[in-house]
Amino acid sequence: MTSALSLLHDRARQLLDPVHYDYFAGGAGDEVAMGENERAFRRLALLPRVLCGNDTRDTAVTLLGDRAAGPVIVSPTAFHRLAHPVGERATARATAAAGTVLIASMASTMPIAEITAAARDVRPDAVVWFQLYLQPDHAVTTELVHRAEKAGCTALVVTVDSPVFGRRERDERNGFLDLPPGLAAENMRDLPGSPPGDTLDIAMSTALTWQDIRRLREATALPLVLKGILHPADARLAVAEGADAVMVSNHGGRQLDAAPATIDALPGIVEAVAGRVPVLLDGGVRRGSDAALALALGAAAVGVGRPVVWGLAAEGETGVRQVLDALGAELDHALALCGARRPGDLSRDQVVARGLGLAGGAPC
Ligand code: FNR
Repeated sequence: MTSALSLLHDRARQLLDPVHYDYFAGGAGDEVAMGENERAFRRLALLPRVLCGNDTRDTAVTLLGDRAAGPVIVSPTAFHRLAHPVGERATARATAAAGTVLIASMASTMPIAEITAAARDVRPDAVVWFQLYLQPDHAVTTELVHRAEKAGCTALVVTVDSPVFGRRERDERNGFLDLPPGLAAENMRDLPGSPPGDTLDIAMSTALTWQDIRRLREATALPLVLKGILHPADARLAVAEGADAVMVSNHGGRQLDAAPATIDALPGIVEAVAGRVPVLLDGGVRRGSDAALALALGAAAVGVGRPVVWGLAAEGETGVRQVLDALGAELDHALALCGARRPGDLSRDQVVARGLGLAGGAPC
């Protein structure tokens, strides 16, 4: 493949320390879920619609009240200064310039206030959401939430698929346990319980329950997105507990290796949610047509994780911009070919399994 994204990936692989490359590239176990995320898109086909007069198109979407230039957003990934010295500042600037949503990881190598400031430097109305792992000590969680609110984040993305750390065998083999000296998860500094002059470790907990989501709901007025939902029953619970959106995700195949490809899980979640809240998806999105397939199956937006890291490692801010621009242009092209004016025009009857004949479709 010679897409802009695969060229940036090749370049990133050449430039990164192999141990750090493996950290970013790897998945859990045999990396089945990771590979399936990409392969499952290729098992699906999009039926074009013709003669729709869709010469004026607009990819813009509104997500949780925030306007984005397109439905391809940036999923949270940790430790951007491990990929490039400018780190999250470069990602924030590029995402703001592209006019889309940045979900900043709680495990960023720069504090959230600096990330939002970098984004707003480029575009005063830049949209940054904060990704949160609920911490066993509620006081730590609420302090992180207050920092995100103060920094101007407009939504919280609570990652619920990580009761334990995923078993990434590449990292185990490489002995990659810690960030190099000088780099740290900067949001974890000066929290209740942080060692003086050092950061608190990010904790995962199998003890978390829906009660913790209720508690978080009471602690903030920000919209809540629950990230890492794959079971329709959990999607229904999320809506019942007041989630403002759910994100279908298997953490890029880094948690449960037996988890399904996210595009395969999407229809069940869309059905369970029944339009009550937006459904987002990430995992394996590498082309605008992948985004189009997810939109046609009912996603309001899709996130990209590793491609952003590859762009960042290869070319810094410019590389991230190239990734987002390429996906945005490809999506617009797919809309043009599918008879759509807007992302929401794509419909489920336009998606068929490859090799299984054609579905019927409604007139456009
Ligand atoms: C992640 N992901 C992730 N998710 C999250 O909620 N918080 C985090 O800090 C991280 N960190 C992280 C680091 C790296 C290196 C990767 C690859 C992924 C998961 C991420 O948000 C997203 O779900 C996947 O990356 C999406 O899959 P693709 O686009 O990488 O295939």
